[in-house]
Order: sequence, then structure tokens, then C-alpha cells
Amino acid sequence: MKKSNKIAILSEHQEEIVEIAEIIKSITSHSYQIYDFNRVDECIEFCKNRRVDLLLAHTSSLDIILQQRESLPDKNLEFILFSSSSKEVESGQNIFNIGALDLFRYPFNRDEIEFKLNRYINEYKNMVKDYNRTQKQLDRVTRISDRQQSELKDLNNELDRYKHHLEDKVEEGLLEIKALNREIEDTQKEVIFTMGAIGESRSKETGNHVKRVAEYSYLLAVKYGLSEKEAEMLKQASPMHDIGKVAIPDRILNKPARFTEDEFILMQRHTEFGFEMLKHSTRELLKTASIVAYEHHEKWNGRGYPRGLKGDEIHIYGRITAIADVFDALGSDRVYKKGWEDERIFTLFREERGEHFDPKLVDLFFENLEDILAIRDRFVDDGTE
Ligand SMILES: [Fe+2]
Ligand SMILES: [Fe+2]
Repeated sequence: MKKSNKIAILSEHQEEIVEIAEIIKSITSHSYQIYDFNRVDECIEFCKNRRVDLLLAHTSSLDIILQQRESLPDKNLEFILFSSSSKEVESGQNIFNIGALDLFRYPFNRDEIEFKLNRYINEYKNMVKDYNRTQKQLDRVTRISDRQQSELKDLNNELDRYKHHLEDKVEEGLLEIKALNREIEDTQKEVIFTMGAIGESRSKETGNHVKRVAEYSYLLAVKYGLSEKEAEMLKQASPMHDIGKVAIPDRILNKPARFTEDEFILMQRHTEFGFEMLKHSTRELLKTASIVAYEHHEKWNGRGYPRGLKGDEIHIYGRITAIADVFDALGSDRVYKKGWEDERIFTLFREERGEHFDPKLVDLFFENLEDILAIRDRFVDDGTE
């Protein structure tokens, strides 16, 4: 059964209500159910409690309708005004501005009322349909959006977890790389030191000799004004000063008697052998070691070997290692000699200032004698080697 459209008619004048109601009842294209009110408060009360499709109200009730409309469950109650005279409302424009759908002027025209009521009822119904459809779509979109929000949240959480995992991995990787680098550096130092020790052991030096030479060289390098990096480099490279001795035959190296001239010349070549062994490396440490091996027997006055370089021609690494090596060699016991007393060594150093040794380095040696002797005490030979 077709639902009838509920229309409320409000007017103080019953005859107006009757007239309009007669017209509406005669409309057959739609079914209308009419509720009539003479009092505004009764009409508003009714509209609050019942669904009313359309309100037809006399213009004299306009103010109170506008006031009360907000309190209605359906705030958009559609209404049409009617006036009992054609002059009562001056401008139709104002009627539309305050939300009325239309204005029926007196005398009422049946065709106009039928036409407009039908149109508004249809529009209103379509509007309700549209509204319901839109509301449903909105609900669906909201549901989808809720689901997407939750998925997005899950994704974000997942992403966060992944990010943390990645950060941990990177951290782990960095630690591993650091450990590896340290391992490589330590290995490198050890290899260099061992190589130096091999060279020294061939000539029956003690293991601590190279350690002491390294420490003396570092101290003198710092005092001379080399950078910390260069001083450290020299400290690590200086133990290799005699590496070239691996190429000297044992019978010469360990000869208990004096060398013949040929043997002495060959012996001196340990500097060149050492240089040849190391010079091809592009590593700074090994390059430093090659300089030390090559130049540690050069003398300030130009009478050293292998090239007879003089003064500043001798690399500072060579000059420093020379003084460190000689100081330690003279003071140590060897199979063929006892170590010299300190005073004898100091006397020699004073004599060799500007001869064998760089004068500035000799000065630095004496200025820092206490530290140098402390190094000697720290790496004292235990007599087992
Ligand atoms: Fe040497
Ligand atoms: Fe040495």
C-alpha cells in the first residue's frame, strides 16, 4: 500500500485550513493525510512527535516556526507559507532566504497547489532517498577507511620493527667492521714487529731491542716536533730497520771474528736489501719502514752508508732511528761484547753530535734522558734470549 504523505496545516483561520485541505484532498496523483492546527504550539508539539512531510503555515506563524524549528527532531522540516492576502508578504525572495519552499498567495489556485505539492513531495522523497544512499555510502567508506587505518597502523608498526631491526643490523655490522679493523691493525703491527724481530734475531739481538728502539724513536720524534701520526708510524716501522739482514748469510752475520772487507761491504748491504724488500709497498707504514731500513746507517757528516747522505738529506726517520739504534746497541750485552757504561755512551754521543748524529737529536736525547732511561728500564732484557 502506498504510504500517504503527511501534511500539517496551520492557521488561526479555520476557513483557510478548510479551503486548502479541500484542494489537497482533491489531488489524486498522491495520497495526502492532513492534520490541521489553529495554534502554533500545538502544531509544533505535533511535529516534534510525528514525522511530517510538509508543513503549510500561515505567514503570521513564520517567526515562531523559525524559532521552534531548531528544536524539532528533523531540523530541516520543510514548510510552505501561505498568505491570506496577496500583500501580506512583500517579497518572495525573503521567503526563500529563510528556508520556506514556497509561498501560496490568496486566492489559492488549485492547479498551482497541486503542481507544487507534488513537486516538493517528490523532491523531498528523492532528497531523503539520496540522503539515505549517501549515508550508506559514507558508512561504507568509513568502515573501509577504518579498516585501512588499522592496516596502515599495522604496516607502520611492521615498518618500525623493520627499521629497528635494520638499525640493530647496521650497528652490529659496524661493530664487526670496527673489530675487524682493529684485528687487521693489530695483525699488521704484529707482523711488522715480528719481521723486525726476525731481522734482529739473525744478528743475535734480543727481542726487546726492537721494542726499545721503537719507544726511543717515538719519544724523539714527538720531541723533534713530528705529528702524533708520524711519530706513531715511526714507532711501528723502526723495529724493521735491520730486516735486510735476512738476506745476509749466517756465516757472515754470526762470524765471531772481524769481517774481511768484502764481508763488511756485504754486511752493509742489509740496508739496501731491506729497502728493496719494502719499497714496492703502497702502505704508508711499509714505506716508512723502507726509509728506516735504507737510511738508519747514514751519518750526519755524510760518512755513513749505503749512499753517504748528509745532514737533512737523510730522512728524519733515518736520523731518529740511527740514534735510537746505536744507543741501544752500545748499551746491550752481545755475544762478542759487554754493554757499555752509560757515561761512555754519553761521551761518544757528545763527540758524535753533528758527526754521526743530527745535533738537534743529540740535544733532545740529553734533554729527555730521564724518559729514555725509563724506557730502557721498562723493556729490560731478561737474559733468556
Ligand atoms: Fe742496521
Ligand atoms: Fe738494530
